Amino acid sequence: MTKKVHNYSAGPCILPAEVMKKAAEACIEFNGSGLSLLEMSHRSSAFVDVMENARSLVKELLGVPEGYQVLFLGGGASLGFYKSAINFMKKDGSGAYVNTGTWAKGAIKEAKKLGKVNVLASSEDKNFNYIPKGFTVPSDVDYFHITTNNTIFGTQFHEIPASPVPLLADMSSDIFSKTIDVSKFDLIYAGAQKNMGPAGSTVYIVKESALGKTGRDIPSMLDLQVHIEKESMYNTPPVFPIYVAMLNLEWLKEFGGVPAIQKRNEAKAALLYNEVDRNPLFKGVVATEDRSLMNPVFTLNDEALADRWNKIWKEAGISGIAGHRSVGGYRASMYNALPLESVQVLVDCMKELEKGA
Ligand SMILES: Cc1ncc(COP(=O)(O)O)c(C=O)c1O
Repeated sequence: MTKKVHNYSAGPCILPAEVMKKAAEACIEFNGSGLSLLEMSHRSSAFVDVMENARSLVKELLGVPEGYQVLFLGGGASLGFYKSAINFMKKDGSGAYVNTGTWAKGAIKEAKKLGKVNVLASSEDKNFNYIPKGFTVPSDVDYFHITTNNTIFGTQFHEIPASPVPLLADMSSDIFSKTIDVSKFDLIYAGAQKNMGPAGSTVYIVKESALGKTGRDIPSMLDLQVHIEKESMYNTPPVFPIYVAMLNLEWLKEFGGVPAIQKRNEAKAALLYNEVDRNPLFKGVVATEDRSLMNPVFTLNDEALADRWNKIWKEAGISGIAGHRSVGGYRASMYNALPLESVQVLVDCMKELEKGA
C-alpha cells in the first residue's frame, strides 16, 4: 500500500493488516499443505480444525456459557431476520420488536411473514435518533427481538432491556466490541463484516434448550437444530470467510480480548464525540445517552463549509465517512481494527476546519 488510508467504512470494514497478510498467504498455500485454502475440502481435517477453532474462540472471547452452541452459517444477518423468527415463533404465535431503524424494520418485515408481530416501541418519529425506553415486554409473546447497535442511525442499546420471554438480538455491528452477558440472550446473530471478519459468514450463538418448541416443520437450512447436529457443516460452509474470521478472533485474543478492545473503543468514541461537542462547526445527530460507540453520526452546522470540509478529510487520507443517505451528514464507523491514531487524524481535520472558518 502506498498511502496510509484511515478506513471508516461502515462494513465491510477495516481489518487488521496482519490478518489480511495471513489470509493472503492461505490463498496461495495453507499451512504447508501444498494446497490453497480455496481448493481444500471443507471435510478435510485442516478445515475442520479451522471451524472448531473459530467456534471455540467465539466461546472464549464472549464467555459463552454451557448450554449454548456457536454456528458459522451463510446468508448474512438479513437471513437471520427470518431464521431467528422461524426458530422461536410458535405456529399461531407472535414476536415482539423495538423499531430502531432500517435493520430492525427488516427483522420486523420478515417476522410478519410468519405470524403476528407486536412492535412495542419505535423511534421513527425522530428519524431513529434515540433508543426508545420505558416500554414493557409482554409475557404472552414467544420472544423479544432487538438490534443492539443501529449501524445507519448511530444509536446503541447501552442497557439491555429486561425480558420475561426469550431475548433475540441482531448484534451485527457491535459484537466483540464490548463485553456482554450472553446468558441474557436465547439467540445472538451477527453478520461477520464488521468486528468479526470479511462478509460471507454469519455467527449464531444459541441456547440449545430454547430450540424445538415452535411446532413448525422448519426447512433444514433454516433450522438451527439441524446446523447444531451437523456441527455447522450441514452444507458447505463459507470456508474462506470463516478462516479469516478465525484469524481476526485470534488477533482480538492477542490484543487482550474483548475487555481490552472495549477500552480502546471507548477511548476512540470519547475522542471523537468530545470534538463533535466542542467544535462549534459540528453537531451530533443522536441523543447523547444513546450514542453508538461504533458508528458516530454528525453533521456540519453550516452546509456552506461542506466543500472545504470534504477536501480536508480526503487529503488527510480519510475514507468512508460520508453519511448514509437516510441520515445525511457524516458517519465515522470505528470498528475494532481502527486505531486510535486514525480518530486523532479525523479530530485534527475538524480542528483545521475550525481554524480556517
Ligand atoms: C445491524 C445490522 N443488521 C443487519 C445487517 C444486514 O446484514 P447482511 O448484509 O449481512 O445481511 C446489517 C448490515 O450492515 C447491520 O448493520
